[in-house]
Amino acid sequence: TTSSIRCEATQASNARVIPELADINWDNLGFGHVPTDYMYIMKCAQGGNFTTGVMQPFGNIELSPSSGVLNYGQGLFEGLKAYRKADGSILLFRPEENALRMRMGAERMCMPSPSVEQFVDAITKTVLANRRWIPPHGKGSLYVRPLLMGSGPALGLQPAPEYTFLIFVSPVGNYFKEGLAPINLVVENEFHRAAPGGTGGVKVIGNYAAVLKAQQAAKAKGYSDVLYLDAVHKRYLEEVSSCNVFVVKDNIISTPAIRGTILPGITRKSIIDVARSEGYQVEERLVSVDELLDADEVFCTGTAVVISPVGSITHLGKRVEYQNRGIGVVSQKLYSTLTNLQMGLSEDKLGWTMRL
Ligand code: COI
Repeated sequence: TTSSIRCEATQASNARVIPELADINWDNLGFGHVPTDYMYIMKCAQGGNFTTGVMQPFGNIELSPSSGVLNYGQGLFEGLKAYRKADGSILLFRPEENALRMRMGAERMCMPSPSVEQFVDAITKTVLANRRWIPPHGKGSLYVRPLLMGSGPALGLQPAPEYTFLIFVSPVGNYFKEGLAPINLVVENEFHRAAPGGTGGVKVIGNYAAVLKAQQAAKAKGYSDVLYLDAVHKRYLEEVSSCNVFVVKDNIISTPAIRGTILPGITRKSIIDVARSEGYQVEERLVSVDELLDADEVFCTGTAVVISPVGSITHLGKRVEYQNRGIGVVSQKLYSTLTNLQMGLSEDKLGWTMRL
């Protein structure tokens, strides 16, 4: 009603009455979109540079029906998280890495992109503007979703004449409904996620729509998600729909090498460094699907999933189970080291966290 809108507006204009924490149930956050207070928007013309952005109330945006993103998928996204530390301060995890990855993707998609400084500055402002939506320490994180899209109109196939960089956020908990319990994957034998020379190595929005069909079929059969094989040999592991994959055998950790068809995950890269610093041998190479048969542990990494242990993998009707479907020793150790760092529970010797 008008009176309640007026009442909310009065409250919103009085900073002292805005509570420190949004009034939601913080105990059961999954990975769904919870609308928050603000989003950040910055625009630029083709051939130009991004200059200044604006923070505005979160809400729908207006796009030309002939925009590049709607018609030809000229769009990229990123994902990173802000954590509330036990002392109340806020930590971002490696935001420059997301900025650099967006720049790489923008180059591939013929789009201008914000500089690393602009990107990190915009993330910082958006997180601070929405700080009451950052979950209490230990209850989850604020997922930050930067988008870069061809927002200008173009009917012929060509780069759009205008671009929009937008950031929205949402409080999140665990990605998979299993929580931290091991997930059950199925190897996909019909569809592929990416092919050499394609866009599998950048965070193009279309990469994600393309996996929905296989994912939906797998979920209908009770699996958590799909593990993709390479499109050429149909034999080497690539990644899961929303995360990278690691295999552990005799304490050696292996993961598919980045060769253009796999998304270069920031969590992937961080786990490789963390594992090496803990004395593990880590190999980035071709990993054959046959290696899943006698692996000791398998786990997935991603910003959204963090580290997700894999309890079973089914390939051509044959099911292999790991660790009696519990979390493996190596996966557990790496999970603890990484999340302690991200949540500010251990000393950040690597300078990966940015304190707001
Ligand atoms: C992320 O992990 O941040 C991603 O971008 C994957 C997405 C499908 C949730």
